[in-house]
Amino acid sequence: MKVSRRIVTINRERCVKCGFCESVSICHGGGKCIGCLACYYACPYEARVLRLEEVECGLIKITVDGVEYAVPEGFSVKEALEAIGIKFVEPGSKGLTAPCGLGGCWACAVLIDGGLERACITPVKYGMRVELDVEGVEPLRIVHGPQPHRIGGKATPWWEVDGVRYVEAAIWLAGCNLRCPQCQNYHVTYDNSSRPMTPLEAARRLTVCRKVYGTSGLAVSGGEPTLNRRWLIEFFRCLRNMNPGARLHLDSNGTILTRSYVDELVEAGCNNIGIEPKAIRLETYMGITGIRDEELAKRYLENSWNILEYVVSSYSDRVYVGAGFAYNPAWMSLEEVAEIGDRIASIDPRLQVTVLDYFPIFRRRDIRRPAVSMMLEVKRVLEERGLRTVIVQTSVGHFGPGGRATPY
Ligand code: FES
Repeated sequence: MKVSRRIVTINRERCVKCGFCESVSICHGGGKCIGCLACYYACPYEARVLRLEEVECGLIKITVDGVEYAVPEGFSVKEALEAIGIKFVEPGSKGLTAPCGLGGCWACAVLIDGGLERACITPVKYGMRVELDVEGVEPLRIVHGPQPHRIGGKATPWWEVDGVRYVEAAIWLAGCNLRCPQCQNYHVTYDNSSRPMTPLEAARRLTVCRKVYGTSGLAVSGGEPTLNRRWLIEFFRCLRNMNPGARLHLDSNGTILTRSYVDELVEAGCNNIGIEPKAIRLETYMGITGIRDEELAKRYLENSWNILEYVVSSYSDRVYVGAGFAYNPAWMSLEEVAEIGDRIASIDPRLQVTVLDYFPIFRRRDIRRPAVSMMLEVKRVLEERGLRTVIVQTSVGHFGPGGRATPY
């Protein structure tokens, strides 16, 4: 049969042999491109070329939940499942979902020949036995860290940072649904080669780190932590049981959080949430996130703001909330900063707001890190809009409420 296939090849002229595709985001296709696009999105030098090809393709037999199907060979398991009519639901929902497509989040994992494996990057093979119900199986996810952190994230209570060496013990989770060309943490985001951990293992390691460094908080960031809902909820449950009364911090882009997901997180022990809507204008948001589908970008942007409002209005009494966005004059004007300030002030002028000064990295090595004076100008603009708790990250440290400065 003839099928339309996505094929990714290497553009040798752009490739700088950085080794990222051999050590971090590796091909799981077994020597043949299966069109999963993980390497296409991950290459820091954009040395991968995507093309669509009409190819003659044989059929192979696999079983799904005990039923035999013929699927085109050379597909990923996810594509093969879709070809027989199995639907992947919206990211953040319960059920089969594939939010990163990079091999990092493990949200798409199904049982393949008895073991948990990622549907998005695993090639389909003759005779493969796939089982979709993984409810009783411990979820997995690629985890970086733990490491102690001096400053914390956008929702780390600003007053806790003063006078301590480390304020949080943190882990970072692989996989993201955004494609930010200036991803500040791309070695984590695009990692599909590290051994994944269960929530219990990650919680144990993070707890040890907290004890060693005596931190008040424990944090999870990414990548985007919310992509694998089952993993994250279980992780917070384990963490709460091991650290009763501690501050448990989630750092999220807010794009796929739903009200029920937030309710479940709070129920599981999460009591400190940072949401980063990143921008307020759609065009800016699309530039920052690399999301080219306008409808999807609009949905993500609106969801981030709406869920921030929901967390503040429903949980301010038991969850310390922070908002954040990334400033660089390459993509944002001070007028937009003021608009962001107005939107946050309309939610709650006391809300902690952290502005990060994004530096050149990943696919945007052409930008310049904003000067300290620029970041202080951003702080002034936000405070003029009525915000009372503004923190800006600069190359020399964080500047916060009342002119407080925390050097690195
Ligand atoms: S969607 Fe497959 S690992 Fe994230």
